[in-house]
Amino acid sequence: MKKVKATMQDIANQAGVSKTTVSMVLNNKDSSISDTTRKKILEIAEEMNYIPNSIARSLSTNKSGTIGIMVPDITNPFFSEIARAIEDAANKYDYNVIFCNLDNEIVKEDKYVKLLVSKLVDGVIFITGGNSDKSIDILKGNNVPFVFVDRYVKGYEQYYGVYSLNKEGMTEGIDYLYRNNKRKIVFVSGDPNLGVSKLRYEGYKEAMEKYGLYNEELIFEGDFSLDGGKKVTKDIIEQIKDFDAIFFSNDLMAIGGMKVLVKNGYRVPEDVGIIGFDNIQIAEMMEPGLTTIGQPIYDMGKEACELLIGFIHGEDNNEKIIRFKPKLIVRDSV
Ligand code: RIB
Repeated sequence: MKKVKATMQDIANQAGVSKTTVSMVLNNKDSSISDTTRKKILEIAEEMNYIPNSIARSLSTNKSGTIGIMVPDITNPFFSEIARAIEDAANKYDYNVIFCNLDNEIVKEDKYVKLLVSKLVDGVIFITGGNSDKSIDILKGNNVPFVFVDRYVKGYEQYYGVYSLNKEGMTEGIDYLYRNNKRKIVFVSGDPNLGVSKLRYEGYKEAMEKYGLYNEELIFEGDFSLDGGKKVTKDIIEQIKDFDAIFFSNDLMAIGGMKVLVKNGYRVPEDVGIIGFDNIQIAEMMEPGLTTIGQPIYDMGKEACELLIGFIHGEDNNEKIIRFKPKLIVRDSV
């Protein structure tokens, strides 16, 4: 017969006490219970490998000690690195995490938001940037605190969030390329529906106009993915002659682009300079090392988690929005 999970009643029966007594001992509730009884109950619980029923506890306390993390694409190291930081911070405050990969699909987002609410999570960290109004309504309707990270959600720009100063990062990148005598600088955007993509494009445009170099023929639409970077670089090679640099809106696309350029006989950086955005760990491992605009990925995740946990505990932070300044990371690809 299948061994059923030990319960508090089983412990009570074996110890010859009431279930209430067992509950008080296991929850450290009442010190009026004799040390002998307390010790006996704890020993029996240990022998039975008793594990408290967290769902039952959540139902009674309406707290699960768990937070949900929703990210667009787990295959992009930016998101796995930021999720790692969130998990470290959560564990430091004794929270567990439920990790939801959305694959940029609104249907999956809807499913996961409902799952998180049904699991009584204490809060949610949103890295979506898609059209998340319905998901947000569900969280609000169930009084589940949430914060945004990295990607803006229309209408919630002033809500709890942790972001990078995307435009400033782009300006620093263009200034660096200009100082390295790059003039025909192609720009590859992220997913054009996302706020971060629009801000990076605006940063590129303003900086290029500052030098009198802006030309909309140098603008190409990407999607933040490795394959997207490869595909758009093939289009650039076919359509643009004598370009001397490509500024990709994230590192994954830059990595895909570098491979296509080298396969087509371009030398990096001698023939074309390449710069990315994010500074994911693999950027340093590329040959040549990828020069990029570094986002403080770990700090963004850590701050977002601490902001949410403060919010869960009722701290109505004045500083609801935390913005980090990206930093130019010079390696060898320009
Ligand atoms: O690489 C993924 C991109 O999407 C990053 O630049 C990050 O900012 C996210 O928005």
